[in-house]
Amino acid sequence: MNYYLRSKIFLFALLGVTAFSCTSDDQIQYEQYVIYGGDLYIQHCSNCHGVNGEGLRDLYPPLKGSDYLANRVKIICAIQNGLKGEIVVNGKKYNQVMPKNNQLYSLDHAQIATYIYDKWGDESTKKLVTVEEVEKANCNY
Ligand code: HEC
Repeated sequence: MNYYLRSKIFLFALLGVTAFSCTSDDQIQYEQYVIYGGDLYIQHCSNCHGVNGEGLRDLYPPLKGSDYLANRVKIICAIQNGLKGEIVVNGKKYNQVMPKNNQLYSLDHAQIATYIYDKWGDESTKKLVTVEEVEKANCNY
C-alpha cells in the first residue's frame, strides 16, 4: 500500500470516529434532557396534565396526541409564561388558566419541552429543544 492510500484511509477512519463521537455526544445530551425533563414534568406538570399527558376532562387539555404541539414556539412560551384565554386543542375549547411557574429556569424549560416532544411529539417535532431556542422564543405576553 503506498503512502498516499494509507494516509487517505487514516483520514477516513479519523473522520468516521469524529463523526461517530459527535453523534453520540448529541445523543447523550438528548437522553439527559429527556430524563431530567421527565422528572420535572412529574413534579411540575403532571398534577394537571396527568402522568401520561392525558389531561383532565374539560379543565386541563391533554399533551398526548395534542395538535397544539405542532408549534414549538407556542409550547416553549406556554412552559415559560403559563397560558390563559381560550385555546383549541384537537377541536375542543379550553379556557382556564395555566399559572406561570417561577421555580423553573431556561434549562428546565428546554428539558421539559424536549421530554414532551420525545413522549408525545411526532417525527418532525421529536428533537432536542435547546436552551438557546428557549431564550430566543419571543413570548410577548
Ligand atoms: C395548575 C394546572 C396546570 C399546571 C401545573 C400546568 N398546566 Fe399546562 N395547561 C393548563 C391549562 C388550564 C391549560 C389551558 C390554558 C388555557 O385554557 O388557555 C394548559 C395548557 C398547556 C399546553 C397547551 C395545550 C396543550 O395541551 O397542548 C401545554 C403544552 C402545557 N399546558 C404544558 C404544561 C407543562 C409542560 C407544564 C409543566 C411545566 C404545565 N403545563 C403545567 C394547566 C396547567
